[in-house]
Amino acid sequence: MVQVAVVGSGQMGSGIAQVLATNTDKEVFLYDISAAAVSQARDSITASLRKLTDKGKLPKERVDRAMGQLQFVTDLPALQRSVFFIEAIVENAAAKTELFQELDRIAEPQAIFASNTSSIPISTLAKATKRPEKVIGMHFMNPVPLMSLVEVIRSPQTSDDTYNTTCTLAKEMGKETVCSKDVAGFIVNRILMPMINEAFFVLHDGIATAADIDQAMKLGTNQPMGPLALADLVGLDTCLFILEVLYRDLKDPKFRPCPLLQQLVNDGFYGRKSGRGVFHYER
Ligand code: CAA
Ligand code: NAD
Repeated sequence: MVQVAVVGSGQMGSGIAQVLATNTDKEVFLYDISAAAVSQARDSITASLRKLTDKGKLPKERVDRAMGQLQFVTDLPALQRSVFFIEAIVENAAAKTELFQELDRIAEPQAIFASNTSSIPISTLAKATKRPEKVIGMHFMNPVPLMSLVEVIRSPQTSDDTYNTTCTLAKEMGKETVCSKDVAGFIVNRILMPMINEAFFVLHDGIATAADIDQAMKLGTNQPMGPLALADLVGLDTCLFILEVLYRDLKDPKFRPCPLLQQLVNDGFYGRKSGRGVFHYER
């Protein structure tokens, strides 16, 4: 069976691994440096698959097969045979660069490295490897099993072959693709993050309560969830990292992170994943 690897088993990595296992016939290795994160990923994939089968969206036999295709690992050399890597670790350029250097050492020379980064230019990550033509952005949306988009980001060095293989895999996973140039934030977060940031400024300036801000945007602009609840879903730490990349790279004051967002992250309120962000969540 062809082996693919997902590196980082947080909310995005676990969703990507789940969809790879349910929609393709590949053997999927899900890796994290944290054993607790890998164990949590197994639980969240099991829970998500149960929901989808209960609703009749996925046949039970497909779920059993998918669980058999998944391997949960904490040793990097286990990924060695993978032909396609999808990186989904923390949104930090230094951590991603170090990981790409390590992967470059262990992976077969023909293996493709895709990053699920929300904002970091792909050329920055490609430079860390000796295979820049095989490095690409493959930006999934959260929650991966429910969202149909993958933004594909080509750096100037990404080859046509890498681009075509990536688009084919995304389609096999049941996703629609759009293509973006390699500029910080790409399409979705260049547009989405300023809206989320502005929602924090509206709250910070005391213009309305968090509940009213979200209600206004839900009912007033037909969004499925308000911007503050969406920030909690994405992770406030991740929103802040993305805004910092946009602010630094595009050098435009409109991307300056709201001090309230900064404060919540400093206080350890990361959103749903930590049980508290703007709102409180049962865990
Ligand atoms: N697997 C399976 N089922 C899931 C799930 C998952 N991972 N996540 C949620 N669900 C289920 C819910 O449990 C719920 O099931 P029940 O009906 O049994 O309760 C069902 O899906 C529908 O969810 P909700 O009733 O909670 O709410 P909803 O109808 O609003 O749908 C949603 C949920 C799809 C997340 C919807 O609110 C939505 O589309 N929100 C916006 C999401 C979005 O914009 N994502 C992009 C974020 S930006 C990004 O990802 C890029 C980045 O780099 C930051
Ligand atoms: P998360 O915090 O849920 O998970 C990150 C995981 O990476 C953790 O389990 C952590 O242990 C692991 N990790 C950190 N350093 C590692 C390393 N060196 N090697 C292996 N594992 C490591 O984060 P997330 O929300 O899943 O985001 C992951 C990536 O996906 C980020 O680049 C983020 O910007 C991007 N992304 C996030 C969303 C979102 O809505 N959260 C959407 C699209 C893209």
